Formats: sequence, structure tokens, C-alpha cells
Amino acid sequence: MREKIIAGNWKMNKTVPEALSLVQEIKIKLTRSDYKVVVIPPFTALYSVGGAISGSPIKLGAQNVFWEDAGAYTGEISPVMLADLGVEYVIVGHSERRKYFGETDEMINKKLKAVLAHNMTPILCVGESLEDREAGRTINVITAQLKAALDGIPFVDIENIVIAYEPLWAIGTGKTATPIQAQTVHAFIREELNTLYGNNMGDKVTILYGGSVKPDNAADLTGMPDVDGALVGGASLKAESFLGIINNAK
Ligand code: PGA
Repeated sequence: MREKIIAGNWKMNKTVPEALSLVQEIKIKLTRSDYKVVVIPPFTALYSVGGAISGSPIKLGAQNVFWEDAGAYTGEISPVMLADLGVEYVIVGHSERRKYFGETDEMINKKLKAVLAHNMTPILCVGESLEDREAGRTINVITAQLKAALDGIPFVDIENIVIAYEPLWAIGTGKTATPIQAQTVHAFIREELNTLYGNNMGDKVTILYGGSVKPDNAADLTGMPDVDGALVGGASLKAESFLGIINNAK
């Protein structure tokens, strides 16, 4: 089902006390209920943050996951462990994981399936590099990422996936895609889902924009017809800017 979501990806930031103080402030000052608000702390703060938001409308997300349920995989976190903590959303295929940790489309596909198998919602990240965009390859890159990530995922599960379009050149750079650039790719993703799955699937999937979303560009970006919300990095680390984005969203 298509939802409106503002999600804050805290990346590798916040100790437990820092995470708690941030989420408490968000919880107290959150007034809006038409957007689902998701906080995505590092693994080490999931348990505490989960406790702090319990009973509130704020949802818990994780930044990554391994695809096996348990076993000898030193350093990894399984979907069973995340579900046990009350995690409802899991980022899969973030460009930083693809770039720094060698995540391939095949790994992303396995992670996506594991998240769905444990009844959590994957937030699948796709996006092109500046080089790809300048060479006119944006659509080809997005198509290839989508097809590889969704390979073998049954029709009934597609609606339970959130897609985040995050152009690499806009992540953490202060350079945002223009609303038109975001809208164009979002509309293309919907078309591609229609082609792959039929049944107007493109209209049923939530698609977020990510990449330097700030309070002052949130309205224009979320005002686009195919942009259902935002995946926010840097600006989600302070309650004021995260709430500013939530409040300004269209
Ligand atoms: P940013 O990060 O808002 O700091 O650009 C977005 C993301 O990586 O999800």
C-alpha cells in the first residue's frame, strides 16, 4: 500500500544516550500524523530507541541486515534479531553499503527476500552516479538495479517494498536533485514496475526521495506527484531539522 513516509537514517552516528535524547525530542515535538515517521539508528541503539518510541506513532528501522537467520557469520545481524527488537523497516542496498562494503545486486536481492520473509518492510535504495547521469545512463542504471534487486520476488510482495531513489551525487553533498529530476525518475520507476508486474503495480509502491533533503527543500520535493516522502541522512541527526522536514512536507 502506498504510504507517506519521512525516514531518518542516522548512519554511523549517535551513542545510546545521544540516540535517546534525539528520539525523545522528536517524540515530544511530533505533531503530524499523515506522514509515517521512521527513525533508523545504528544497531547499537535499536533496543533503547525501540523502547523509547514504544506506544508512540514513530516506527523503528535498521540500516542493514544479513540474509541468514542465524549461524557462524561473525559481525552480522540477522533479520530474526531485528524483528525481535520491533524493527519494521530495513534499509537494503544503500549506496554507502554498495560503495564501501562491496554489496552487490545479488546480495541486495538476498537481503530483500530475508527482510520480506520476516514480515518487515525493506527500503530498497537505488540511484545513479554523477558519471552515469552525465553520460545519460540514469534510466539504464535504475532499471538494472531494480531488476536485479527484485529478481524472484513474488508479485504479492512487491507492494510491501518501499523504494528510495537516492542519486549518489546528492547524498551528503548538499546538492539536491531538483524536484523535476526526482519526479522524472520516480515516474520512471513506477512505469518500470508496471512493465515488470502489470496490474498498475507502479501506483501501489511507496517511493521516497533521498539526497540532501532539508527543511527548505522538503516541500518542493514532496510536492511532486510521484514522491511519497523522504529518506533523510544528515538532516535527521538534529530534531529541529528532522521535524522541519516533517512539518514542511506536502
Ligand atoms: P543525506 O543522506 O540526506 O545526508 O544526503 C541521505 C541518505 O544517504 O539516505
